[in-house]
Amino acid sequence: MNAPLLELDSVNTYYGESHALHDVRLRVAEGEVVALLGRNGAGKSTTLKTVMGVLPPRSGAVRVAGETLAAPTPEDLARRGVQLVPEERRIFGGLSVEENLSIAALSCATPMPVSEIYRIFPRLQERRRSLGRFLSGGEQQMLSIARAMIRRPRLLMLDEPFEGLAPIIVQALLAVVADLARQGQTIVIVEQNVEACLRLADRAYVLSNGQVVYEGRAEDLREDHETQRRYLSV
Ligand SMILES: Nc1ncnc2c1ncn2[C@@H]1O[C@H](COP(=O)(O)OP(=O)(O)O)[C@@H](O)[C@H]1O
Ligand SMILES: [Mg+2]
Repeated sequence: MNAPLLELDSVNTYYGESHALHDVRLRVAEGEVVALLGRNGAGKSTTLKTVMGVLPPRSGAVRVAGETLAAPTPEDLARRGVQLVPEERRIFGGLSVEENLSIAALSCATPMPVSEIYRIFPRLQERRRSLGRFLSGGEQQMLSIARAMIRRPRLLMLDEPFEGLAPIIVQALLAVVADLARQGQTIVIVEQNVEACLRLADRAYVLSNGQVVYEGRAEDLREDHETQRRYLSV
């Protein structure tokens, strides 16, 4: 059997002396969509930052395609095809949509053609000459996902991509992410919108106080109102 594309093995991560992740185990197979759920402060963003090498684990291992990364940096992860779209949208406000995409493509040897990005996000083509700061929240979010996609990630990690967006925009973005998933894109998605997230995902992990408290099929968690009530409802 192939090694999972991403594997966290008993990962412990700290902020200074504060123990944020406790023995986190997590696997993502090629082609899977995995939801990472949990209340505010549960450790979801910390998990993604640990994977990216922004916050190296104090113990445990992060493996990409079976290879353990000893002291990974975000650049190492990018080279291995792991891209994170962080909570705070990272686009250049003073540059146009097209310039934002070109710059993102620079760090990749074989980037996606911009035309392919515009096929995924037709709205970005319409707005291609607009400066980043004049885009709506939804368009900015599309652009930050597009900046990751242009590097043809093997693994795309989205941290609360629907946060702060109007429901109709959330529906449009959901459709785009669902399309990417159908085309075989491997995705880890963190979301507060549990129902939307579980409709996209194949499997789900629930974190609470930095620990994995649930792991299973997304459709099972959708029916598991007790787990949702204990760990997810506000
Ligand atoms: N930069 C930081 N310094 C210290 N503690 C932090 C920092 N960022 C997050 N934490 C703490 O780590 C825990 C997990 O946070 P986080 O991963 O951001 O949660 P989530 O993304 O699930 O809302 C929380 O208790 C939070 O207060
Ligand atoms: Mg977070």
